[in-house]
Amino acid sequence: MKEVRLDSQNVRFSPYSHLDSRGAVFEWEGRIFRAIPASVAGFYQDLLDRGVVEALQPRGLVPTKVSDLKLDSCPLVVEHERVPFWTVPTEWPFSMLRDATEFLCDFNLALLERGLATVDFCTRNVFFQGAKPTFVDFGSIAAVGEVSAEVWVEDVLKYGLNPLFLMSVRGGKLMPHARFIMHRSMCQVNVEDLFLLLRPGEWLRYLWMAERCLGARWALSIVRRTRRTRVAAKAAKVAGGLLPDPAARDALGDYCQRIKAVLSALPHPIAKSYWAEYYRYAHLPHTPSDEWTPKHRSVHRILNDLKPATVLDVGSNVGWFTKLTALAGSQVVALDVDELSVDRLYSDAKEKGLNILPLVMDFTVPWDSTPRHPSTEARIPCDMVMAMALIHHLVFGRYMHLDNIVSRLARLSKRWLLIEFIAPEDDAIKSWYASSSIPSYTLDNLLQALKRYFAKVETHESYAHRVLVLATKEG
Ligand SMILES: C[S@@+](CC[C@H](N)C(=O)[O-])C[C@H]1O[C@@H](n2cnc3c(N)ncnc32)[C@H](O)[C@@H]1O
Repeated sequence: MKEVRLDSQNVRFSPYSHLDSRGAVFEWEGRIFRAIPASVAGFYQDLLDRGVVEALQPRGLVPTKVSDLKLDSCPLVVEHERVPFWTVPTEWPFSMLRDATEFLCDFNLALLERGLATVDFCTRNVFFQGAKPTFVDFGSIAAVGEVSAEVWVEDVLKYGLNPLFLMSVRGGKLMPHARFIMHRSMCQVNVEDLFLLLRPGEWLRYLWMAERCLGARWALSIVRRTRRTRVAAKAAKVAGGLLPDPAARDALGDYCQRIKAVLSALPHPIAKSYWAEYYRYAHLPHTPSDEWTPKHRSVHRILNDLKPATVLDVGSNVGWFTKLTALAGSQVVALDVDELSVDRLYSDAKEKGLNILPLVMDFTVPWDSTPRHPSTEARIPCDMVMAMALIHHLVFGRYMHLDNIVSRLARLSKRWLLIEFIAPEDDAIKSWYASSSIPSYTLDNLLQALKRYFAKVETHESYAHRVLVLATKEG
């Protein structure tokens, strides 16, 4: 292995990992590295030498090896395999957040077998490759004796149980609230937020869930924090308050098992949605068939001609075209505003092992950057963006200007945009068009807007009063 020496002054550390005293992430020549300081270098070197790091990879640790880079300020630099897309819990459908929480339990159980644990329990440390979770925060692996059980349990609540519980109540009606709180609070929902939003019966059910996952003492500590009544204070006193760290640390494995048991019985709260039932061609096969419409045929041909490595499907619905794209060999990110459609697509992708990463997101109000992660535009640009049977919703439902839609789609596309236009005379939008005053919604205006951002614009056949437009950037 040829050694490369770098001066830390010339290395750009990730602005999102600089707070971490157990190692800081940096990029160099498109590769991902972690510089590990002297204080913990011996510990991680030992894990690498004893084969622990390798053994943890089948249990979900991002592939990690000692690197050929040397940094003057750090005795150890490791290289991590790059996970293609960085997504955050705020964007995941309910079942994906539940799976990430279960995955962190399983990963901790694998660590505990080796006298290790994670110093925190943060779902932000999980990245998904398609529907498969991967643990990326190598620096949060520590000897179990170094773990503060109080921090660990508090994280289980705010990154796992609290957002999941909030999403699960009232048939999923509080899901948007949960997502906004998570976005504002760096993917967490605090006990105090929950206390403000839940009705008394829901609050009691939440405490019961906390008790089943973490035991009575932690549940009572929640009561003590949120309800400063004499009864609550007395109850907490009788229970003896928090478990001391050593005893709680011994219980981490038990907590993991209990959390998994509770989560596996937590179903998706939404039974039905208009969009999850809407796609009338959902039954069609993904191999060419006589039942296919010209749209199915055109998209299939375009994907097989261009073979984009990565595709972003905006307004994916339950993902018929997303699956067609994954089966054609692309890595696909799918986004839609409808919770149940995205959740179904996730479960399907997981079951069939398809390379699809489904996200809940409103295209008109994308999750912006926070101090802990960059914006969606920086994280999920793809070779091709597809926006089919979508833009009429954005124009007539959200009053977005065609140019604004195209410019945003163009920023997400590295090379191609495949967009579908539904003409005003189509049954799907005839009445919207008639009752609106948006005469600028025309194919000509769409083509004009596309030509501002793309070098080549060509049309392809769809069906009824629809047309597919493929736009290509220079180069
Ligand atoms: C007619 S379906 C299109 C499905 C698929 N792309 C196709 O071509 O058959 C429109 C989808 O767009 C989604 N949608 C509407 N407005 C959206 C928005 N602002 N952000 C993201 N998705 C949106 C709906 O939830 C719905 O699933």
